[in-house]
Amino acid sequence: MEKSSLLIQFPEQKLTLLIQDSLKLVLMGKMNFEAKIELVQREDLSEAEQELLAASQEILKDAYAPYSKYKVGAAVQLKSGIILKSSNQENVSFPVGICAEQSLLAFAGANYPKDAPRMLAISAQREGDEVFAKVSPCGMCRQAILEFENRFEHPIQLLIQYPDGQVVRIDGIQNLLPLSLGDLSL
Ligand code: THU
Repeated sequence: MEKSSLLIQFPEQKLTLLIQDSLKLVLMGKMNFEAKIELVQREDLSEAEQELLAASQEILKDAYAPYSKYKVGAAVQLKSGIILKSSNQENVSFPVGICAEQSLLAFAGANYPKDAPRMLAISAQREGDEVFAKVSPCGMCRQAILEFENRFEHPIQLLIQYPDGQVVRIDGIQNLLPLSLGDLSL
């Protein structure tokens, strides 16, 4: 056994764990996770927040979602003030489809590699509906957002349109992604 390793055996479970120094494991302990998620009225948002939310709602109309009929729009404000928009783009081979957030962030990262995303708004609407549908970024999108926070070393504020004029405001993806994978030095 290497000096930096620790071997733990659980005979009853017939389990042996080799734990390396660099592996941050919390054994037999508790981890408490506190998330700061606010529910606010749309009219209480700042002008910049309202503008970004409106941009996500404008772009969702052009979403390509013939299979789910659930149109999602995302808009990001970069540090420079530039606003970019995108929507979900589905595929007849379902896993090939891409979420609004991921298509947006990929474009932002490729075209504005030095301009940090600061605020991301997300809205959804079912085809034929007038009202907004509830939406929440999927697991893969949360991971994609985390990568951008880490890449630019800055949290991204999320604004999610909810029905009845309510908006969920979240100060950084860590609030939606406990115990996240942020680097490979585990
Ligand atoms: N979708 C998004 O684009 N973003 C989300 O945050 C939730 C889900 C898309 C994926 C798929 O095209 C459709 O919504 C139904 O899941």
